[in-house]
Amino acid sequence: MIRHLLSIRDLDPDGIEKILATAASLADVGSRQVKKYPTLRGRTIVNLFYESSTRTRLSFELAAKRLSADVLNFSASGSSVEKGESLKDTAQTIEAMGVDCIVVRHKSSGAPLRLSKWVSANVINAGDGMHEHPTQALLDLYTMRQHFPSFAGLRVAIVGDVRHSRVARSDVLALQMLGAEVTLVGPPTLMPPNASSWGVELTAEIEEVLPKIDVVYVLRIQLERMEAGFLPSLSEYSRLWGLDSRRAALLKDDALIMHPGPMNRGVEVSAEAAELPRSVITDQVANGIATRMALLYLMLGGEHSVEASASA
Ligand code: NCD
Repeated sequence: MIRHLLSIRDLDPDGIEKILATAASLADVGSRQVKKYPTLRGRTIVNLFYESSTRTRLSFELAAKRLSADVLNFSASGSSVEKGESLKDTAQTIEAMGVDCIVVRHKSSGAPLRLSKWVSANVINAGDGMHEHPTQALLDLYTMRQHFPSFAGLRVAIVGDVRHSRVARSDVLALQMLGAEVTLVGPPTLMPPNASSWGVELTAEIEEVLPKIDVVYVLRIQLERMEAGFLPSLSEYSRLWGLDSRRAALLKDDALIMHPGPMNRGVEVSAEAAELPRSVITDQVANGIATRMALLYLMLGGEHSVEASASA
């Protein structure tokens, strides 16, 4: 298995399939009375979060604890970072404590890569700037796989602020690697400037796309985008591209609604659309735990089987 997961490009289709299959065999731990495997007993994982996060941080913490690892949580606020400590010094401090794996979220694209050069621990990118969020892509694939047996030819539309989205970058790469067809939908100002080299379709017409796809993946719209001039107003965005129940009714019967969270209800997705039976947004959150357990298990836990470890 790979030493670091910095980009979804660090994996090949077999590696992705192995993580998804391992996640499926680990998933039932959440419903058992004793929710733990002993696999990572004695190993230490630090969550190094320089940017705010709810679900990603909690999900990594729970995943590590369910594998019996010791977990340290570090957030930049309240730490020596506020006194001016650099990423390198923080990394070396953590390394000196004998940590085995660093899960890092940072506002700068490339920070996890730099970190991986300074430490001997395994490094997992939990979201870096506008670059990538590979574990989000893995849990998204896992969630799609629960409904569709194959990614080959699966049609996925990613709607909204693709330009600033690390989730979109990782999802597009992962989906393409597995043979899915991706369409990016939204205002031209929120499409990536180099989108023509992404090998995707591009359109501003959401209502033309919805009837043709298997998954609509809605991205969060940040207020800052409006302030920076990318959007005239949030209400106009919502009127032209927001997913409400009227638009959701254009989808095929078995099509899914997904969103990485946190949602701005009433902006990119209406409260009703987010709660339709075809919405798998809370499944994504739940699946994040099994997917991250699988990744930690394969990166840190060695090769013995899940079954052997479960009965240990
Ligand atoms: C995303 C992130 O932080 O990159 N959220 C997440 O990890 N589930 C998406 C976002 O904040 O828009």
